[in-house]
Amino acid sequence: MSAEQGWVGTADFSCLNPPRARGLGALQARLVDRIKRAALRRLHLSSRGERLLLRMYLAGEDATERTLLDELLPQSPPWLERQVQQHLADEQRHVNLFAEALRALGDEGSVRLEPDWLSRRKIRRWQRLAHRYAGSFEQGLLVPAYATGLCAEQMAERVLRRHCAVLDPGHRLYPLLARVLADEQAHVRLCQNTLRRIVAPGEAGRLAALLKEIRAVDASFGVSGALAMLGAGWALGGVGRRR
Ligand SMILES: [Fe+2]
Ligand SMILES: [Fe+2]
Repeated sequence: MSAEQGWVGTADFSCLNPPRARGLGALQARLVDRIKRAALRRLHLSSRGERLLLRMYLAGEDATERTLLDELLPQSPPWLERQVQQHLADEQRHVNLFAEALRALGDEGSVRLEPDWLSRRKIRRWQRLAHRYAGSFEQGLLVPAYATGLCAEQMAERVLRRHCAVLDPGHRLYPLLARVLADEQAHVRLCQNTLRRIVAPGEAGRLAALLKEIRAVDASFGVSGALAMLGAGWALGGVGRRR
């Protein structure tokens, strides 16, 4: 059976769903979530804080767009190209939406941002994992690329869902965040469906091991990322003054 025909329905792909954290991991996830909610509320107290949040989203969307262009598109087989192009168009639209929102808050947003230091370290560790696992799959690097993409989209979904939950639906940034959240949820489904098609049944165990390692890298940055965000919240949140 070819990858294009797909392997759907012949293997256990439960690893594609975010795992339920248990024990210490669950405690850490709750702690990270609480710190980030506090940081979000704090950052929304000032225009500088809100601009920082939008710049973080812009940098994330920009990095996703570049990854699709530089890593996914060149190695995609012809039958996947249209899907990757559509995904790329969505991420480019997100870049434009966040840049527009930044301009509305008085920030030019014309300088393309690099991901912060922590995100760059995380991306480098994910890239090393991808190369280590590429030989485990018939479709080579395409599988780790989609597995990393899935985890990144699930992370974006988690981050935006938390942000929407913290905001009042009447907040001026709510429609933008809710719209991008809906797209990221669609991207999660797209990555899951693609992995079901490109991973052979005999490779499902290796995919589960790869996803476990990718998520462990993500979790290892959780507390430090949350504390960095809280620090920014305290530095920029002010005392309710809009600056
Ligand atoms: Fe996006
Ligand atoms: Fe996305």
